[in-house]
Amino acid sequence: MSVAGAAVRKKSRAAPGVAPDPEALLVWYDRHRRHLPWRSAPGEAADPYHIWLSEIMLQQTTVKAVGPYYAKFLARWPDVGRLAAAPLDDVLKAWAGLGYYARARNLHACAKAVAGEHGGRFPDDEEGLRALPGIGAYTAAAIAAIAFGRRAVAIDGNIERVIARLFAVETQLPAAKLEIRAHAETLVPQQRAGDFTQAMMDLGATICSPKSPACGICPWIAVCSARARGDAETFPRKAPKVEGRMRYGASFVVTRADGHVLVRSRPEKGLLGGMTEVPSTAWAHELENALAQAPLKAKWRKLAGVVEHGFTHFPLQQTVYAASVPAKTKAPAGMRWVSLADLHGEALPNVMRKVVAHAGLAARPERKRG
Ligand code: ADE
Repeated sequence: MSVAGAAVRKKSRAAPGVAPDPEALLVWYDRHRRHLPWRSAPGEAADPYHIWLSEIMLQQTTVKAVGPYYAKFLARWPDVGRLAAAPLDDVLKAWAGLGYYARARNLHACAKAVAGEHGGRFPDDEEGLRALPGIGAYTAAAIAAIAFGRRAVAIDGNIERVIARLFAVETQLPAAKLEIRAHAETLVPQQRAGDFTQAMMDLGATICSPKSPACGICPWIAVCSARARGDAETFPRKAPKVEGRMRYGASFVVTRADGHVLVRSRPEKGLLGGMTEVPSTAWAHELENALAQAPLKAKWRKLAGVVEHGFTHFPLQQTVYAASVPAKTKAPAGMRWVSLADLHGEALPNVMRKVVAHAGLAARPERKRG
């Protein structure tokens, strides 16, 4: 059994009696589908350019906001070749107002790649699509299913909610993602995978809404575990939001010329007791004159950006300073040098793993929160 399959058996309640039938959803979709400008008419082949363009625009934007932009792009650049030939500046200008401008740059780069390297035809499977600029796992699956009828599993927030309710998934998000995916995989039909994907999107957007789902008109009412329990609106389960006021701190990442980093152990009592950290200030509601707390004299560089972390009781923004010192530099009292190779093995809490990664040293965050 796959890991995901094991997760399904262990954590979820079975649907009441009958498994959800994809065909019932498709019958509903044929009658109640939303008429969206990028969708082909029933029975007509989808245009991959249309599907790709809409999916990129929909990545962080609502269907309503995307409509006019989609129409404008299509009128101006009716196919991928013409979009590829357009000056990037024109594309960026036409995108103005949609936000997340990296999408527009990637859109243009992707059009160029498809026109230049793929003879103007989009790859027709997830793997090929994912290799293109701006296409991540979700978008690749959505395009593969909708444009090419591939049995791909695209799971956005709406679909996640539908599945969590259908199977009354008790695991909290984000940990539940694997389990939800495993359930979704059991549902996608061999035929009409694209319509099924769009039907799931429509169900989530119109009936299986976050706060007050209209279960009375849902095609899957009889097989929905959450509905059977009477608390559909409480799914999906979510890890509680980090509460409390924002705190701020600063960390000092000192690298010695012979490849060592300065660390110390936190006090045994208190938050992250006994764990390893790079020298850092306390976490307070305000951070003043952090450099006065630097562990040694050096040419400190304040790194761009901050490290964000959520502790159970408060969110944190950590500024990071970095400095390099000569090989013979002694560790200040209570601190020690560890080699970069040994840094992984240290009891570094996640926030410190993020800090050293931010400073360009390799210590990946662990999966568990620390
Ligand atoms: N959200 C993302 N992709 C979508 C699509 N193809 N139809 C409706 N909503 C979407």
